[in-house]
Amino acid sequence: MLFNTCKSFVVALALGASTAMASSYQNSSRALMSRRLTEYQMPVATETHEFARVPNSSFVLLTQMSDSELIKIQLDPKTEEPIAFHSFPMGMNSSSQLHGVWPSTVYPGKMWLSLQGDNKLLLVDPGKHLSSVPHILKTIDIPQPGNGPHCVFEIGNRVWAGLKVASEQTGKYYVFSANIRNSTDYKLYEALNSPVFIKEEPTTGLIYVTQDTDSSIMRINVTSSETKQMHVPASVGNNAVGMISATGPLSGVWFTLAGNATGGTGTFGHIGASGEMNFFTLKHPMLGVNAGLLHIADASTTDGGPALWLLSTSLLSNESPDALVRVTFDDSLSALAEEEYISMLTQNAMVHRVLPLDNTVLVSELHTFTLAQLTYKNTVAGQWLPAEAVTNTSVYTKAG
Ligand SMILES: *[C@@H]1O[C@H](CO)[C@@H](O)[C@H](O)[C@H]1NC(C)=O
Ligand SMILES: *[C@@H]1O[C@H](CO)[C@@H](O)[C@H](O)[C@H]1NC(C)=O
Ligand SMILES: *[C@@H]1O[C@H](CO)[C@@H](O)[C@H](O)[C@H]1NC(C)=O
Ligand SMILES: *[C@@H]1O[C@H](CO)[C@@H](O)[C@H](O)[C@H]1NC(C)=O
Ligand SMILES: *[C@@H]1O[C@H](CO)[C@@H](O)[C@H](O)[C@H]1NC(C)=O
Ligand SMILES: *[C@@H]1O[C@H](CO)[C@@H](O)[C@H](O)[C@H]1NC(C)=O
Ligand SMILES: *[C@@H]1O[C@H](CO)[C@@H](O)[C@H](O)[C@H]1NC(C)=O
Repeated sequence: MLFNTCKSFVVALALGASTAMASSYQNSSRALMSRRLTEYQMPVATETHEFARVPNSSFVLLTQMSDSELIKIQLDPKTEEPIAFHSFPMGMNSSSQLHGVWPSTVYPGKMWLSLQGDNKLLLVDPGKHLSSVPHILKTIDIPQPGNGPHCVFEIGNRVWAGLKVASEQTGKYYVFSANIRNSTDYKLYEALNSPVFIKEEPTTGLIYVTQDTDSSIMRINVTSSETKQMHVPASVGNNAVGMISATGPLSGVWFTLAGNATGGTGTFGHIGASGEMNFFTLKHPMLGVNAGLLHIADASTTDGGPALWLLSTSLLSNESPDALVRVTFDDSLSALAEEEYISMLTQNAMVHRVLPLDNTVLVSELHTFTLAQLTYKNTVAGQWLPAEAVTNTSVYTKAG
């Protein structure tokens, strides 16, 4: 059944594309446009987690949690293609659970890491060469009752971590924040189960935190230390995970709902300066409405305007596809305009994070220890013609 639906979907795209292209391509020689995904195999591990680019370098750092290994990946400086990697154990052994990785701005070129099992944050110098061993510059011990730093971020002069594991002392969950230069100046904010992403709303300076299991967004005023919980209405979906802070026309924080074992709802949200939550829902009948949106990235370009990358994963339900979705908005940012869908090469790969580079986009696959790279030739994201067909549902009903 699913296979049949897939086939007619492909046919529909092909018909839509050839009709649209016929007039503009007659009797002229043109370079072909292409959109390509390539998978790069990483060392075998059960949990390929976070990844981030070392700013101004051709290195990407990827964490594998199950064996606490840090993978340093070298990119071709021109094409951005991954060309080689070197793997480094971090912490004492696999129980150290290397998880978070985030670039420091306060210390340019240095990277934050979290060891969830060891209850530590590390600031490392990744080294100039592929084989240089990452050098630990600073270690921050998570104070009790905090437990299990998962994702790590730097915001202004503070380092933040969502503590994913229930406290051994209190049974509660916390968000950790410390002054980067003086970590005795720290704060633990009590959270729900369980904090994941932590981002600053650029206009108000308020900090927002996604909490997955309890499906709520926590707001922190760092000046007053006041916190507030904003529950995601069950009617739109659940399981708030990915979050970014955006400036310009998209100003505010954007977060995704990953759904549950019955699948996702293709829904993501925005909180701007007003502090209100607004939700947006994907429309595509196969890849959109059941999407379990785990992660998100800014896809805005000077020419193309404001846009977002959304990552749907099969991590929580195989009712949700592994797909990358690029969305644009209407002028007032109140509704979605275009949706471009890229189905991942390997379904059930449990895609995990999306990272736009300068000209390509990387996606990590938790279940298959791979990195996938999306590359456009002679066109750019958002200009791919089948994206127009996707918004025209009459094409599908005709192709039946
Ligand atoms: C194609 O275009 C060229 C130059 O624009 C013209 O000379 C030629 O007659 C055209 N051929 C056909 C088949 O239309
Ligand atoms: C890792 O090292 C710690 C401390 O020596 C030890 O307690 C733990 O059992 C080790 N774990 C593994 C998986 O070897
Ligand atoms: C990267 O390079 C840009 C421009 O050369 C510079 O402004 C920025 O500070 C650098 N960032 C880091 C983290 O080194
Ligand atoms: C570091 O922070 C602690 C706690 O806020 C404070 O008591 C101490 O004076 C600070 N140290 C420096 C060198 O600023
Ligand atoms: C944060 O708290 C401070 C101190 O109470 C208050 O002055 C400020 O307005 C609050 N910020 C926001 C954005 O609500
Ligand atoms: C899963 O999510 C859907 C959509 O939000 C909801 O209707 C359903 O009750 C949830 N199921 C469970 C077991 O939480
Ligand atoms: C949708 O596609 C159909 C069939 O190709 C076409 O007739 C119709 O004009 C299209 N609608 C829009 C809004 O592009």
